[in-house]
Amino acid sequence: MERKLDELLFALMQNMTIAVSGEKLARDLGVSHSTLVRWIDKLRAAKVEIRGELFTGYRLTRVPDVLLPQLLRSRLRTGRLGRSLYHFYSVDSTNGFAMRLLMHGRSVPDGTLILAESQTAGRGRMGRTWHSEPESGLYLSIVLRPTVSPGFAPLFTLACAVALHAAVHRITRLDVDIKWPNDLLVGRKKVAGILAEIQADLDRIHFLVIGAGLNVNHKALPEDLADRATSLRLVSGHPHSRLDILLDFLERFEALIDRFQSEGPETIVSEWTRHSSFAVGRRVQITDGLRTAEGITRGLNSFGALRVETASGRIEELYSGEVRDWE
Ligand code: BTN
Repeated sequence: MERKLDELLFALMQNMTIAVSGEKLARDLGVSHSTLVRWIDKLRAAKVEIRGELFTGYRLTRVPDVLLPQLLRSRLRTGRLGRSLYHFYSVDSTNGFAMRLLMHGRSVPDGTLILAESQTAGRGRMGRTWHSEPESGLYLSIVLRPTVSPGFAPLFTLACAVALHAAVHRITRLDVDIKWPNDLLVGRKKVAGILAEIQADLDRIHFLVIGAGLNVNHKALPEDLADRATSLRLVSGHPHSRLDILLDFLERFEALIDRFQSEGPETIVSEWTRHSSFAVGRRVQITDGLRTAEGITRGLNSFGALRVETASGRIEELYSGEVRDWE
């Protein structure tokens, strides 16, 4: 279904200046008039502006900012990431969809990318939700099947943060920070978050689903988020290409994973450390559900845990949790 909507939108984008008759569109797509009308309605519901009717012809009234697979594929320079691709106008959660695919035993190649224009139940860390309005953000999940032991799994989410950080910086030139473990901040406000889900046994990762949400072109955020979150557009004052950021991110993420598999964790650890103000010498309080550690950060270990030196001089190593500045 979503693939058909992509085809219809792509056809309309090839004919931006003249109206294409509904009859021709229906014929080209091999569907009945009533199906075409239904699909046009679905695209309109996804905020695509289409003028016209079945018999006079349809025309887009502006170029929609949709991450069409046809556009993405023509510019994709990765070997694996994004080569298998699902694109939704709306889905409950890209992570949820990925998990369902994997659980139902479908063939899901390493690097499969699931993209959504909007999510109705976007999931955040710690059981929170992720605000996912259409045309504004990047909402994506990537399925990875790395051949390393599960202990290294956190490094993949750190690598995702590093790649996203670099892509955002390159495309927007904004000053971005990585808040441990993997949020992106501009100023003190959050612009991106990462949610990883894993299925593994003790010595093997079956798969990892790494979900990332990036606030790109939101003109405003809901009141309850506005004091903690922002978008790239809100900070820079102008919109940014979601597609450019996505393509740059995918390339960098793949390169980092490849370097990890060939050279070990050092690249990820050092890149993360270079770009996070939380890595070294920061006074923090971290709660991971079991314990709260307070102290000064002393970098990451090679599994991606944050080392915190407490008042007694002991080093605590934490893999996940909530971090706060400790006054
Ligand atoms: C966080 O709480 O900071 C993590 C947010 C992760 C949100 C992304 S959006 C795409 C993917 N699908 C989801 O349901 N969640 C992640």
